[in-house]
Amino acid sequence: MATYGQIPPSPAALMESLGALGYSLEAAVADIVDNSISADAATVRITFDWNDGAPFAWILDDGTGMSVDGLVEAMRLGGVGPMAARRTTDLGRFGLGLKTASFSQCSRLTVATRQGKSIASARWDLERMAHADSGWELLKGAEPGSEARLEPLKQQHRSGTLVLWELLRTGTETSLPRFLEAVERVERHLAMIFHRYLDGDAQRLHIHLNGRAITAWDPFVTWHPATTPKPLARLRDPSGDVTVRGYVLPHRDRFRDEDEHQQAGGPDGWVAQQGFYVYRAYRLIVAGGWLGLGGSREWLRDEASQLARIRIDIPNSIDTVWRIDVRKATARPPGSLRDGLIRLAADVRRSARDVFAHRGVRTGIQPDAMPGRLWRATASKRYPYAIKREHPLVQTAIDNSADPALTEALLLAIERTVPASISATPHRATEAEVDEMVLAARALMRNLVSLGVDPQAAVEQVARTEPFDQVPDIVQGLKGVD
Ligand SMILES: Nc1ncnc2c1ncn2[C@@H]1O[C@H](COP(=O)(O)OP(=O)(O)OP(=O)(O)O)[C@@H](O)[C@H]1O
Ligand SMILES: [Mg+2]
Repeated sequence: MATYGQIPPSPAALMESLGALGYSLEAAVADIVDNSISADAATVRITFDWNDGAPFAWILDDGTGMSVDGLVEAMRLGGVGPMAARRTTDLGRFGLGLKTASFSQCSRLTVATRQGKSIASARWDLERMAHADSGWELLKGAEPGSEARLEPLKQQHRSGTLVLWELLRTGTETSLPRFLEAVERVERHLAMIFHRYLDGDAQRLHIHLNGRAITAWDPFVTWHPATTPKPLARLRDPSGDVTVRGYVLPHRDRFRDEDEHQQAGGPDGWVAQQGFYVYRAYRLIVAGGWLGLGGSREWLRDEASQLARIRIDIPNSIDTVWRIDVRKATARPPGSLRDGLIRLAADVRRSARDVFAHRGVRTGIQPDAMPGRLWRATASKRYPYAIKREHPLVQTAIDNSADPALTEALLLAIERTVPASISATPHRATEAEVDEMVLAARALMRNLVSLGVDPQAAVEQVARTEPFDQVPDIVQGLKGVD
């Protein structure tokens, strides 16, 4: 076959470009910590050293370490690629993170690793690669003069790996205060991204940053007695099951003081941090936002729903379906799960709005005061009672239902039509109420169609059925269901 011969990428240019994938400093550090977790580390020590304006940083773990061959392979771009099967606890996917994250922050990457007594180290130096025509030649050892920076690994007396970043890009152009601010951002980010490792249901991990232990930040404020968890739901999907749990966070007044309230809000604040939290093998990928989901319209991060946060757990085997990116910073649910997620989220958002508006409390009946009751009082004049989804009977019925969306549609229809709910005053449904009804109507419609009813006839039937007959533009809302 006629060819132009091998066209290898230009080394320094490719490395530089891969570093421009859009990592923040904190996301880059998190990517390195991912590798430590995959290597079963129990402790990760991170140091940022200002070094009089020539800063460097290192990340040391006490994981399994690597053999010399392993180290060389680790330095390769795309070493273990995306198609390889991985252990369920492996946070990697692309064989790129170590390199891309590092070169987004620095020009010289040295990795030293220890197994037993043997220590090996290797480095890539972009400045050297750009000047000397050294191709893809991997350098041995630390930069002359930097050997002492590998000392912490030697002193550890255990297996482990040290990643050293030199020629940091946050270098000469920043000042010491800016540098320290950046380090603080790293701390807040790691406290959030790895909170389930720091203090939760994942394998235990300690992270020290400049000598200080990082404490977990729990987005669901589960330590607060006024946080209301929703029942755990499992969404089944051919691509892989996911589990989902909604939390309605406490009203501002329930916090001890403004500090505690702000702290619970999170690094970006209450409004920005509402929504879905997607975890891949317990590691947080997406921290808030509504993933492009919604009812009649895409949901926004609005003030009134700021107390709604929803945990989604996905395994690392369905990365492609969820479109996980190299930075592990974005995820997108597959189409097949959208309706299920919308249904669960609509319920959490509704409860969160009630709490935000101080409702539920005003009725004098706490939702959880009477756990055995099937009904709870709501703040709505129109629909003063709701069926408790967390009631054991209801939960069991939903769990055992072949079509949970349809069961939910039935519950909603009962709530909306039970004679006690019908008040004389005309009621304009809120946007959230319309969204819920549309979802329920779509579930019913889908079921009718699957039973063989002609789609057009199904639309007419659903649109005539109580309570959907009350929904404006319901026919419009049933479009696209088949
Ligand atoms: N701290 C570490 N301890 C032990 N092995 C490591 C460590 N860091 C990296 N490795 C090895 O180097 C390999 C390459 O790491 P890299 O982060 O580039 O890719 P990855 O983790 O496989 O995938 P991703 O690109 O999704 O992060 C890893 O698969 C692992 O085998
Ligand atoms: Mg990695």
